Amino acid sequence: MGTLNLDTFTPEARALITELDLARLPHHVAIIMDGNGRWATQQGLPRVIGHRAGVESVRNIMEAGADLGLGYLTLYSFSTENWSRPEDEVTALMGLIEHHLREETTHMHARGVRVRHLGRTAGLPESLLAALHDAWELTKHNTGMTLQFAINYSGRAELLDAARRLATAAAAGELDPAALTEQDVSAALYHPDVPDPDLLIRTAGELRVSNYLLWQIAYSEIWVTPDLWPDFRALQFLQALCDYQHRQRKFGRVPS
Ligand code: FPP
Repeated sequence: MGTLNLDTFTPEARALITELDLARLPHHVAIIMDGNGRWATQQGLPRVIGHRAGVESVRNIMEAGADLGLGYLTLYSFSTENWSRPEDEVTALMGLIEHHLREETTHMHARGVRVRHLGRTAGLPESLLAALHDAWELTKHNTGMTLQFAINYSGRAELLDAARRLATAAAAGELDPAALTEQDVSAALYHPDVPDPDLLIRTAGELRVSNYLLWQIAYSEIWVTPDLWPDFRALQFLQALCDYQHRQRKFGRVPS
């Protein structure tokens, strides 16, 4: 954990930090960033303005996570289902994500963050793939928080890709299907070095998991807030972390 500079937080957020046990933070937090469209619509603005406002929250939560000493933060930025949105919205989102990556990578690097992509590469614009590649190349040796942007991601697609990999190994005689373990499946996922999320946060109040990290969230604690993503800042993030620290995790066992 680095030295925590409280000056970067608002007074309300600072008060919550004093309640937090920084040694017992969730190792991995995954977030479903929802509500950009509603945020814009409520103000009579085009949906893309909501996505732009959402970028501010991405920056704020990235900084808060890195400063608190979080191990992993995974942000659901674009699902495979999002391709079915109107073409201009898809183009705007791709442009925003690429622009944010290009603009913020140096800033994230300075905070010791490792930036990487989670999801399928096929179908993504070449320029975005180049930005993701450059971000990873610059930051891969950092030792701070790992920030994963889930882009062109779906939990079922990830499991399907893992199943194909395992089936190929079995067909080549490298793997005995009868001896397959849960660890083998975990090891065939996109980033097997990443621990399962301890905490899953969803904004905008919907009570569903939307094809996100389906294998990995088996025992994640879930925190849902009615706040829309552009209104979600370090304060709400800290509220989720404090709530998490009051939970008793059972993993299917009877608590001792
Ligand atoms: C959900 O809101 C949000 C998304 C589909 C995209 C998330 C993208 C960002 C926060 C912007 C850029 C991201 C990065 C990584 C810089 P919605 O459009 O589904 O909202 P609605 O449910 O209210 O319509």
